[in-house]
Amino acid sequence: MNEQHRQVLPMLPDDPDDSTADQAIRVRGLEKSYKQKKEDLRVLRGVDFDVARGSIFALLGSNGAGKTTVVNILSTLLKADAGTATVAGFDIATQGAQVRESISLTGQFAAVDEILTGRENLVLVARLRHLKHGAQIADDLLDRFQLTDAAKRRVSTYSGGMRRRLDIAMSLIGNPPVIFLDEPTTGLDPQSRAEVWNSVRKLAGQGSTVLLTTQYLDEAEHLADRIAILHQGRIIANGTLAELTRLFPPAKVEYVEKQPTLEEVFLAIVGDKANGSSSGRPEDEELR
Ligand SMILES: Nc1ncnc2c1ncn2[C@@H]1O[C@H](COP(=O)(O)OP(=O)(O)OP(=O)(O)O)[C@@H](O)[C@H]1O
Ligand SMILES: [Mg+2]
Repeated sequence: MNEQHRQVLPMLPDDPDDSTADQAIRVRGLEKSYKQKKEDLRVLRGVDFDVARGSIFALLGSNGAGKTTVVNILSTLLKADAGTATVAGFDIATQGAQVRESISLTGQFAAVDEILTGRENLVLVARLRHLKHGAQIADDLLDRFQLTDAAKRRVSTYSGGMRRRLDIAMSLIGNPPVIFLDEPTTGLDPQSRAEVWNSVRKLAGQGSTVLLTTQYLDEAEHLADRIAILHQGRIIANGTLAELTRLFPPAKVEYVEKQPTLEEVFLAIVGDKANGSSSGRPEDEELR
């Protein structure tokens, strides 16, 4: 690693007591091990990062890097062994209830009720969040996530992508200031991914802070204001896309004819639903 890399990699505020005012999430020295028969598995070995209010932050890492562990700790589902973190200004260790009131979490695996219809799931969450006008909120979200046609069908009949969209829609109810999305687009087709991306951008535009984990580098590239890479228990890089790409400047300039990506071909053939045209997917039609 050269000198230039070293300068960019830490990218944390110089002052460790930097004010939390502008940070929706602030993580310092987070450690977590899981008990195992022989040796404990040290998953997080001192994780530090900040997420600015109203920004989109992508946490990247290989399978098993500890992304879900970080999300679960920050959403108070799991206790850290060491370190501190604040979410929406509240300490995750001592102000768990306030943290939970300020966040929503879409876990890695869909948490929707199969027996209920999509609409009933949404209305249920609105009630749990003590919101008036639950029916109106549900209908607006169904429309936004293109689930209106399937609204009155049991979720057990939904495709994987539809479940995922419903799960994300459920997490947006009540406009929580901080939103955790653990691999929100895994298993989604390109149109559904684009829909989720649009929704995430809108949320951030309205002032919500989004921390998402992803395996897709292009997702982080398109969506995130800042990208951090979790590797071997630590954040080994953290910066904007421009900052990260500057770490590895191209060795030489090459002129190549640009071919469309497979994703562009796919979207051209089936229609980019996120841009308004219909995909004609069978999943959009009510089962009879
Ligand atoms: N409850 C648990 N008990 C024991 N080990 C666990 C537990 N939860 C996670 N682990 C282990 O901790 C490591 C990190 O898991 P984690 O789910 O946080 O990774 P991840 O980055 O989210 O991976 P993926 O990309 O596959 O979702 C893995 O090796 C996993 O097997
Ligand atoms: Mg995970």
